[in-house]
Amino acid sequence: MKYYINTYGCQMNVHESEKLAGILEEMGYTLADSDKTADVVVFNTCAIRESAEQKIFGNIGMLKSVKAANPNMIIAVCGCMSQQKGYPEMIVKKYPYVDIIFGTHNLAKFKEFLNKKKSQKRVVEVVETEDIKLRDSMEATRTSGTNAWVNITYGCNNFCTYCIVPYVRGREVSRPMQDIIDEVEKLLKKGFKQITLLGQNVNSYGNDIDDEKVNFANLLRELDKLDYKYRLRFMTSHPKDLSKEVIDAMANGKHICHYLHLPVQSGSDEILKKMNRHYDTKRYFSVIDMARKAMPDIEFSSDIIVGFPGETEEDFEDTINLVKKVRYQQLFTFIYSKRKGTVAEKMPNQVDIKTKKQRLSKLIEIEREIATEISQKYLGKKVEVLVEGIHPKKKGYLMGSTDFGKTISFEGDENLLGSFVSVLVDKANHTTLSGKIVDVLDKSNSEYNLPKDKVRRK
Ligand code: SAH
Ligand code: SF4
Ligand code: F3S
Repeated sequence: MKYYINTYGCQMNVHESEKLAGILEEMGYTLADSDKTADVVVFNTCAIRESAEQKIFGNIGMLKSVKAANPNMIIAVCGCMSQQKGYPEMIVKKYPYVDIIFGTHNLAKFKEFLNKKKSQKRVVEVVETEDIKLRDSMEATRTSGTNAWVNITYGCNNFCTYCIVPYVRGREVSRPMQDIIDEVEKLLKKGFKQITLLGQNVNSYGNDIDDEKVNFANLLRELDKLDYKYRLRFMTSHPKDLSKEVIDAMANGKHICHYLHLPVQSGSDEILKKMNRHYDTKRYFSVIDMARKAMPDIEFSSDIIVGFPGETEEDFEDTINLVKKVRYQQLFTFIYSKRKGTVAEKMPNQVDIKTKKQRLSKLIEIEREIATEISQKYLGKKVEVLVEGIHPKKKGYLMGSTDFGKTISFEGDENLLGSFVSVLVDKANHTTLSGKIVDVLDKSNSEYNLPKDKVRRK
């Protein structure tokens, strides 16, 4: 019996698909080459923007004829889209051949749903709350090569006015600190070389736990004590909560990467207020300055939304100016998308799509120039690289990433996977560096399963 998982959205979903894969593999399923040849197909969905939803519906639609030819195929739809009000009913109506629908709070019951389906026409179970211990106890089939994802919080309390996440993921819940430390240590023992902590706002980790010592800075410091050669990353940081203590922990750490994904969303104070972000640009710049002072070699990335309701040309210019001032190594740019049930849905002065598209391309163009200049800083320099995979196109070449989060390619043997090497950079463009290995700093002796691509993100 074969399975296939189509994953959409953020790293949270990628990791949750790994957990669903864990259940399926334990039940004896193996990975199929494509969803068309699988006995169980899962759509782990995202609801962040309308475009994401349309893509998912299109892909579910494409399975109609496949399922008609193979009626035993089981199709399950789960994740953030299923969790939205009215969606399960709508999916049943438009795609009656979907067999199982569940939400973000009950993925631990997937095996039960599959068993129920044997005696039922369809299983639809979406609930509002969950026991996070159940989810934590799920064994993941890791699919990201040298990197392992580790949840530290679930849900979000911030209610940015454009965002659907708090509605589909529920309130923020932190995992106990010792559970996280134990999981990380287990992963490092197994040979993982990079740990990425996950939360919608990692900086508020521990706010819901009645113990002063349980906070993000202390969690970083505790994890940094683990005596293995590894990298520690985290996402996402919220500019309102990122503290000096966290920056100091980063600066003083042995393992914590000098890289910050710090979504700003807009460079206009007016818009930030309407977005309910709880910081202004002054605060944002002060965090950036604080981080740069503590770590002169740090690089930043960010998320920006263009065309939020009421965004004027001036507001957009403010965003451009902020981007030019901060100088991000990478930028994730989005056109504002109206989400049902959010505060911004009802805001006046929605921006027309033509203006949104123009703003997006202008922003991308400016960022491209900046990112190229940042990459070129590294020409002729040696950088420490974690070897993460085989180059998808160039034979004999490997791929990896720098501490500051840049992708880099270089010639080398497969047995270097999972090792740390020193690479002399000789080429640089806006997304990627390339160079030659000059030294092997730490040879991995773990036997690497190459990234199996079991969880393919779309
Ligand atoms: N919790 C993280 C990321 C949330 S989703 C954070 O606070 O940064 C990732 C990104 O999607 C957001 O940072 C935002 O830039 C974008 N996004 C969220 N809702 C959106 C919407 N309705 N339209 C367009 N982009 C959106
Ligand atoms: Fe959405 Fe804001 Fe929460 Fe991020 S912090 S998930 S943007 S509500
Ligand atoms: Fe992530 Fe999309 Fe859900 S971004 S939290 S999968 S809405």
